Amino acid sequence: MTELVLPQHTNAYGTCFGGTILSWIDIAAGICARRHAGAQAVTVAFDDVHFITPIRLGDIVNIAARICHAGRTSMEIRVEVWRERHDAQREHANTAYVVFVAVDAGGRPLPVPGVVLDNDQDRARFDDAVERRQLRMAKARRTAPR
Ligand SMILES: CC(C)(COP(=O)(O)OP(=O)(O)OC[C@H]1O[C@@H](n2cnc3c(N)ncnc32)[C@H](O)[C@@H]1OP(=O)(O)O)[C@@H](O)C(=O)NCCC(=O)NCCS
Repeated sequence: MTELVLPQHTNAYGTCFGGTILSWIDIAAGICARRHAGAQAVTVAFDDVHFITPIRLGDIVNIAARICHAGRTSMEIRVEVWRERHDAQREHANTAYVVFVAVDAGGRPLPVPGVVLDNDQDRARFDDAVERRQLRMAKARRTAPR
């Protein structure tokens, strides 16, 4: 996905709002999840996001999403955000992991296809995703209202 940073996307310092970047990440990940599932998918979790590089007014923002892991109904999507300056140099701005769940028309979770692991990098990403899934679920249990 490609976006152009316009004045309405920036704060008083001329850099892009974090919330705008999060919304682009959510959209790119949602498209990826929907294509994989072949069904509607809703966001269920966002991992910590660290904004490493400021993205400035007039920059092009390149957002790339790919699936790392599919459970029974959930999918973990990795999203990389790159800032492209006027001189066409690219800088990594952040990487986020977002979890989507495929749902039917009534909002109930739907089974999704497994992920095809083509190479060692895919397999490593899958294994890392399994670890993140365990940590995420433990965190979700800890933060649930009592
Ligand atoms: C997503 C939703 C349908 C899941 O419903 P649910 O009753 O929790 O369903 P389940 O317990 O069967 O969990 C479904 C999957 O979600 C995963 N999941 C549930 N809560 C999660 C969390 N906090 N973090 C990560 N994954 C989670 C489960 O592990 C399960 O994955 P799996 O099938 O691959 O094993 C429901 O929580 C929901 O509608 N949430 C609101 C979504 C929303 O409005 N998003 C924002 C706008 S798109």
